[in-house]
Amino acid sequence: MIPMVDLKKQFNDIREEVMDALKDILEGTQFILGPKVRELEEKIAGYHGVKEAVGVASGTDALHLSLKVLGIGEGDEVITTPFTFFATVEAILYVGAKPVFADIEPDTFNLNASEVEKKITKKTKAVIPVHMFGHPADMEKIREAASRHNLKVIEDCAQSFGASIAGRKTGSLGDAGCFSFYPTKNLGAYGDGGMIILNDKGAAEEARSLRNHGSKGGYIHGSVGFNSRLDEIQAGILLVKFKRIDDYNLKRRQKAALYTKLLSGKGCEPLGKVTCPSERPGAYHVYHQYTVTSPKRDELQAVLKENGISSTVYYPVPMHLQEALRGFGYKEGDFPAAERAAREVLSLPIYPELEDFDIGRIAGILNSV
Ligand SMILES: Cc1ncc(COP(=O)(O)O)c(C=O)c1O
Repeated sequence: MIPMVDLKKQFNDIREEVMDALKDILEGTQFILGPKVRELEEKIAGYHGVKEAVGVASGTDALHLSLKVLGIGEGDEVITTPFTFFATVEAILYVGAKPVFADIEPDTFNLNASEVEKKITKKTKAVIPVHMFGHPADMEKIREAASRHNLKVIEDCAQSFGASIAGRKTGSLGDAGCFSFYPTKNLGAYGDGGMIILNDKGAAEEARSLRNHGSKGGYIHGSVGFNSRLDEIQAGILLVKFKRIDDYNLKRRQKAALYTKLLSGKGCEPLGKVTCPSERPGAYHVYHQYTVTSPKRDELQAVLKENGISSTVYYPVPMHLQEALRGFGYKEGDFPAAERAAREVLSLPIYPELEDFDIGRIAGILNSV
């Protein structure tokens, strides 16, 4: 069986360092907002070349609190992609704003900047590009459109830690960057966690207060906030992995290149060849997922399963067709590129420790059907 991700292999490589970090924290007994959270915030801000970083309880909370501190609320419209994980949309709804979808680029699965332009109204206050699967969105065009209309840009970097475009890291290209440390992410904790990065000191202060019940310190509450703190234990584990993140991402890229080399132009009847992921010039894709497309996706997935190989459809239903969002009145056909992606995408196993031999086996099976 080849799984989508194997966290055990990675843990075995870093076991000693993780255990030492845990021992430190357990003996120090400062479990909430202690030195490890502060150290991680400083390191992640430095890595991205931004002034501030605020650890929070999840990627969803990072998006939610970013929207709040950037002043997005009731009656505002926020443009985002219909091809994402549901949390991107939930965060918009949490602040009382309306999610407005714009279709995606069929090759990168990212928000299409020209489609964003068409959706801007007087009520639009922000855009949330999602760097899908680890490929940076077209930030230059999105930022151009946003600055022309005075919109905030909040990057959903849940899948793109370490990705960059023209040498600039995702998360540092808008008004706020939001990360998830969900265990399977490129930089994953051993539980939930998230972080906001930004340059605005005032907004960062507000986020720090909101994550801790709106506290100004000493049981004085300036606003109604949340319990959304990054756990000290998670921060300790993340510091061990953070040291290795560039290497992990490089390995993911090598695995992806091998898949593409073995799969390109291959495949035979009746299921035909798959389309491999593409990279925009200047993009440093970090392959959170290696996602191929095929009109015969379901048949391919069945063949992989018969051969003991995991694969996953991220995501089978685009946001505008989700039952929970029925009230917005979207219908099938509204976003053809997103709908096609939902029908055709298939993510294959990828993680830094995946053996090249296994990639050869997976590609061999895909090429033989
Ligand atoms: C694109 C995207 N946005 C947001 C999230 C939410 O992150 P979390 O699970 O840490 O709340 C995820 C993670 O699953 C994601 O993939």
